Amino acid sequence: MWKIGSVKVQGRVVLAPMAGYTNLAYREFMKPFGVALTYTEMISDCGLVYKNQETYRYLATSEKERPIGIQLFGGRTSTLVKAIEIIESMHLTYDLLDINLGCPMPKVTKTGAGSAWLKRPEELYETMKAVVTASSKPVTAKIRIGWDSTSINVMEVIAALEKAGVSMIAVHARTTKQIYSGKPNYELLKNLRDKMSVPLVISGDIFTLDDAINALEITKAEAVMVARGALGNPWLVTQINEYLKTGVRLPDATLVEQIGYLKSFALKLVALKGENLAIRELKGIATHFLIGFPGMKPVKVALTTKMTTLRDLYAILDEIPKTAFTTNNEVNKL
Ligand SMILES: Cc1cc2nc3c(=O)[nH]c(=O)nc-3n(C[C@H](O)[C@H](O)[C@H](O)COP(=O)(O)O)c2cc1C
Repeated sequence: MWKIGSVKVQGRVVLAPMAGYTNLAYREFMKPFGVALTYTEMISDCGLVYKNQETYRYLATSEKERPIGIQLFGGRTSTLVKAIEIIESMHLTYDLLDINLGCPMPKVTKTGAGSAWLKRPEELYETMKAVVTASSKPVTAKIRIGWDSTSINVMEVIAALEKAGVSMIAVHARTTKQIYSGKPNYELLKNLRDKMSVPLVISGDIFTLDDAINALEITKAEAVMVARGALGNPWLVTQINEYLKTGVRLPDATLVEQIGYLKSFALKLVALKGENLAIRELKGIATHFLIGFPGMKPVKVALTTKMTTLRDLYAILDEIPKTAFTTNNEVNKL
């Protein structure tokens, strides 16, 4: 067990915030695999301040997924503080307030938000001080190592955040310019936690158990953050947790298990968003559950081109030939 301010966190695998993916259904689906902490998708402070109804939907959270952080993004102190006041007045279920200081998307950075803050650490300090004062919950921040390879300033940004009273920092070990490709620079973050006064969560290319072990060993972070690596592979969270607790390496999930996970996630997404929208979103994620299993090409094509209802999803999955399942045991479990 470790703590973020007064908030207790059990376990060392954090589910990354991912816009377009980590909605309430996805988070509730992932939680039982051993997720220690979840975040909402990033939420625009101005969206809240200017009463955009769509923005308010992102605030939905539940008891089941706690502890949960609401993640805000914004480029100015005034709107960030106003958004926090709105959140405070709504009496929502949440445990932490996270500020996104890592989003690399131009439509976000051009407003001074996301990773554009990395370029102005002094202003960031003042802003985060105001954010910490405005929030009744512990404040956390998610950063990158710098804007580009010539302006890496992760230590300076961490110092500013710590001084401002932030209770935990998640570091994505890439620069803004790298967006989501190129290697995360873990060597730069060697023993980083020893140099910090608040807990550290580490992010960047966590696709396997060994990626997680490596990232934790190098940085000494309290926890690792799984993002793209767990999309369609929720069992990765269990594998990491189990290894960190007992040293046991659990085998990968079987195809039968993956299909079960996909169906269960689909049901939750349909319940949250209605069938039309949920199926549209599932077209983007369903195929991830089948990655690495041979002979799945026609199934993946069907999922992306023929699926229009939940019934279609089930029918497509139920038509997977028995030969695709590697052992008799798996076929029997169907
Ligand atoms: C589609 C997508 C959406 C993301 N949205 C957010 C977000 O809303 N807030 C945030 O702090 N990070 C966001 N991230 C960054 C992830 O949280 C994570 O730090 C990053 O993907 C690196 O981890 P990975 O290489 O293991 O995927 C997003 C990443 C992806 C791929």
